[in-house]
Amino acid sequence: MNIKMKCLFFCLLFLFAMTCFYGHAQTAKYNQFHVGEIWLDINGDTINAHGGNIVYYNKTYYWFGEKRNAHQSLGVNVYSSKDLYNWKPEGLALAHSDDTTSDIAWGGIMERPKVIFNRKTKKFVMWFHVEVRGKGYGAAKVGVAVSDRITGPYKFVRSFRPNGNMSRDMTVYVDDDGSAYEIYSSRENYDMRIVKLTDDYLNVTAKDSLLFSAHREAPAIFKYNKKYYLITSACTGWASNKAIMRVADNLYGEWKIVGNPMRGKDSNITFGGQSAFIFPLPKKKNSFIYVGDKWNPRNLEDSRYHFLPIEFSGDDVHIDWYDTWNLDVFNKK
Ligand code: GAL
Repeated sequence: MNIKMKCLFFCLLFLFAMTCFYGHAQTAKYNQFHVGEIWLDINGDTINAHGGNIVYYNKTYYWFGEKRNAHQSLGVNVYSSKDLYNWKPEGLALAHSDDTTSDIAWGGIMERPKVIFNRKTKKFVMWFHVEVRGKGYGAAKVGVAVSDRITGPYKFVRSFRPNGNMSRDMTVYVDDDGSAYEIYSSRENYDMRIVKLTDDYLNVTAKDSLLFSAHREAPAIFKYNKKYYLITSACTGWASNKAIMRVADNLYGEWKIVGNPMRGKDSNITFGGQSAFIFPLPKKKNSFIYVGDKWNPRNLEDSRYHFLPIEFSGDDVHIDWYDTWNLDVFNKK
């Protein structure tokens, strides 16, 4: 190779290296939701936070969710954001335990983590579905962890079956008066139940009641116009199925079926996803984001997210599919 060829070769090599470096470091800055697409955090890594919830605290959004590799549970991740589009990884909020006798030992499963803030104790409390190492989905317990800081690390408090009832898919809901509740799939998922939490949110009370027996899971709840709305899925594992929404004047029921709130293509299979939670936008009345998981059972880490606006026309509540959308939809109402 003569000197000119050598120069050209090294220039090209340099250009290639710079392209690779900036290609990774300069990641997309989002200004809208790309529903069901790969979503990168501000470091360029795929967001890994499934089945969780979002908490608004100190003018910041915190997104909690299951951290997964292809098949295993790796604890609970937390991300922060100022705009709901661009997320900074804040690390593991709750890790599995190295103590093999613990209910949250490595090899077990943590699902559907939900964080709530207790105004009296000023603590952040995480509730989640616990499955114990080596027992598949047989333990059917709920877990509680607590932290002084929103991003954790959360300290595991206990896991148990509420008042002796199995507890698998679950959510927690804090009502306007500060009372909190766990809504959970019980009796091999045939029953949907509710139980009121203690004032410190660290345990359950005996106020535990059957809501309906319809073999449903993935509960996601919100309150609109003094009524409670509950979206659930059927029980088909990671495979998607038809969502059903129910409405009630009281959390303890009676829960009446409204029907499938999803609309448009693939609405009969929840757009290929499953309900995770509903986020009421802070300081914006009647503005809710439905969040679903588009599970990929061959590689759970690559499960994607369905962020979609909940829309109202009179008493009609529905969720339409959008490939992309932004928060301006809530200003146009
Ligand atoms: C789903 C459930 C998920 C996960 C999965 C395991 O039905 O909603 O959270 O538990 O089953 O197969």
